[in-house]
Amino acid sequence: MNLELPLHFDTERVEQALREILPNLGVLWVPESGSTNRDLMKMAETGAPNWTVLVSGRQTEGRGRRSRRWVSPEGGLYTSVLVNLRASQSPITLVPLAVGLALSEALVLEARKHGSTIHIWLKWPNDLLTDRGKLAGILCETAFQKDTWLVVAGVGLNVEPVRDRSGDLPTSNQPTSLREEADAPWEHEDILIAFLERLAKRLEDWEKDPDIIRSAWTATSGLIGKQIRVRAGADPIVGIAEGISDIGALRIRTEEGLVEINAAEGIEVHE
Ligand code: BTN
Repeated sequence: MNLELPLHFDTERVEQALREILPNLGVLWVPESGSTNRDLMKMAETGAPNWTVLVSGRQTEGRGRRSRRWVSPEGGLYTSVLVNLRASQSPITLVPLAVGLALSEALVLEARKHGSTIHIWLKWPNDLLTDRGKLAGILCETAFQKDTWLVVAGVGLNVEPVRDRSGDLPTSNQPTSLREEADAPWEHEDILIAFLERLAKRLEDWEKDPDIIRSAWTATSGLIGKQIRVRAGADPIVGIAEGISDIGALRIRTEEGLVEINAAEGIEVHE
């Protein structure tokens, strides 16, 4: 797709809007990056402060989970957020779920603000799906320094329709986009503001009581109670998605008993 979109992003608007809740927020925009996750992790390791956010107009080597590519043409929102989380009682493995939850809540609220609706469900661990396909993917990468987790939470969100996502395959979900899903202006700055606001709230919850994240994630997931088939290792796991564990692993009730998975190559959902 060769969209002639003006490559511009108003970083100040985002910082201003969130001045009260995130006074140290620093938003950087570049027209092009290899991968915002990779660039921001490098910055984090050389001292970039908490709540540094990198946004790129497009990516040339966008990365997805499980070493997949994330095709990143103009028109999508590609952003990575650095959060420094003190090692606490709450499992760090729940943070990627909290990020997916925050993004889905932000999009629902943004649509509502403009009198529109969008129905999003979370596919474990943190894909955002609608009934038509995959709307967004999240890649969280971590490093540990002294007593602190450096978490780079990368979001790839299809704002405009994506014609060719074949480079990302294998995936069981076709891409969809905000523009196709709901009638709203969908400005990148507004989306980022809403996302960061929800993310700050959900990370606060994570720190206070991880059960809040578990139950909100479960309520937003379209997986729980469904028959699923998971590709993980040699043999597929077939069963009913029952919930998530304390650390965010997916619990599946199979004929042989309860199985917990921490990673999957793909999940198919059967009604
Ligand atoms: C997935 O669903 O596999 C995760 C996709 C994550 C893509 C985003 S785009 C911004 C950030 N930078 C990257 O290289 N990847 C993430």
